[in-house]
Amino acid sequence: MRFLIPLAVLSFILSLILASSASRSTEAPTGFDNKSNGVADDTTHQADQTKFEEVEQLSDGLGPLYNAQSCRECHQNPVSGASSQVTELRVGHQGPEGHFRTPEIPIAHGAEVISGRSLVNDRAICPNAAFPDKEIQERVPETETIRTFRLSLNLLGDGFVEAVADQTLIDLAQQQCKSSHRRICGQILQVPIVEAPGQMGVGRFGWKDQQASLLSFAGDAYLNEMGITNRLQPDEVTKLCNTVSEPNDTPGPDGLSDIDHFARFIRATKAPARDSQLASSAVAKKGYGLFDKIGCAACHVETLTTAAAGTKINGGTFTIPAALGSITFHPYGDFLMHDVGTGDGILQATREHYGHKVFQMMSGYLSKQDFESSRNKIRTAPLWGVRLRPRLMHDGASLTLRDAIQRHHGEASHVSQQFDKLKREDQEAIIEFLKSL
Ligand code: HEC
Ligand code: HEC
Repeated sequence: MRFLIPLAVLSFILSLILASSASRSTEAPTGFDNKSNGVADDTTHQADQTKFEEVEQLSDGLGPLYNAQSCRECHQNPVSGASSQVTELRVGHQGPEGHFRTPEIPIAHGAEVISGRSLVNDRAICPNAAFPDKEIQERVPETETIRTFRLSLNLLGDGFVEAVADQTLIDLAQQQCKSSHRRICGQILQVPIVEAPGQMGVGRFGWKDQQASLLSFAGDAYLNEMGITNRLQPDEVTKLCNTVSEPNDTPGPDGLSDIDHFARFIRATKAPARDSQLASSAVAKKGYGLFDKIGCAACHVETLTTAAAGTKINGGTFTIPAALGSITFHPYGDFLMHDVGTGDGILQATREHYGHKVFQMMSGYLSKQDFESSRNKIRTAPLWGVRLRPRLMHDGASLTLRDAIQRHHGEASHVSQQFDKLKREDQEAIIEFLKSL
């Protein structure tokens, strides 16, 4: 029971900090209705969504290596922009000095070796009619013994997450660590803003907090998931079987490229809505009380507030619009990285996520960032919309909420032990609360 008091104090302090900054804030709109949160008008939002749902073909520059033909293939349940059961594969091996090394993956009968990324693409465009004898499928070499799957993430409401000030996350990490007597210390990672070369921001997107900006993420995903080169990621992973000139994603008549539409689409999504029937039930309310009391809310933070409208973020390239300014939302996550004993040992691959240009320009700076110590850490999974995810945790290997909770060790050991000590009906109340999210 000793640590219950600090955790209760922690949530109290956090609620004070958040309440003081939230005093003039508005609640984020929620829903799965495909309507805009106010960042764009509904017609524009619908048009951006159509871009997000577009199925890319060879003539658009798909591949040569890719995972799927459309953002929607992996971000769709229950509507475009949410998550899905689709996983992707990451591998690597331990180097001589114990450091993580990205894989070397020979393709085309060894004619080329793909390196510098932990991602292994599940699909390739050839052999095809134009290249009947080219064989470029990536496969995991036996030497790559560190292996994991990573589940697709929810994007709904991520515009609010992007608009949280870096300092809010830094303060949250400090308070969390102090109030838990250093048992729970979320790690902050400063990452490059790819559209503002030389500028950094607090990473908050991806299982490893690898990006701070939704535009950076859109460029990263368009190249690494779909093989579509774009102005932020202009270099193909391989030129074998490639027929379309770079970058594949060029501006349309409105001056916007697909990656701009993707970023605006995500910024304009409403936050996931709760199950209203369950949320109002007495048992789910009791469950929330227990979730808070035993310390789950130390990492699965209920409420965050965005910076004020007009604030410049992403290295000065994006100004928070009125619809995203001073908004209170409920992600049940702190967007910080923790070691809860589930880490897969895969270090984030900087060249893969930020592209050659930024990687070369910032490699000195990046090497000072504590990427190595985040090897076995995972961003706290935000629990909004968790009721819609039948597979849980980064690898999708936990199939019930109870299993996911009981898999928490490391920084969360004392909290999951508290869970185990609860009466069965109290444990079920927490699970009922999770089912309402
Ligand atoms: C093959 C499946 C797949 C496709 C296609 C895909 N994604 Fe993802 N997406 C993922 C996975 C898996 C993650 C988690 C990746 C990680 O952190 O390692 C993710 C994470 C994200 C995130 C971070 C969300 C968060 O809250 O942390 C954004 C933003 C995103 N994707 C945008 C896009 C966009 C835009 C496209 C289309 C250009 C796209 N994705 C295409 C699977 C996919
Ligand atoms: C020290 C921080 C921390 C604490 C405390 C904590 N969690 Fe987590 N939680 C995490 C992290 C990190 C993940 C992601 C782990 C992974 O994917 O490997 C996670 C994942 C989850 C998931 C899976 C969600 C999904 O979408 O896959 C659930 C459910 C969950 N936690 C519930 C709880 C409950 C209930 C408690 C309290 C008993 C709790 N957590 C305490 C950090 C924490």
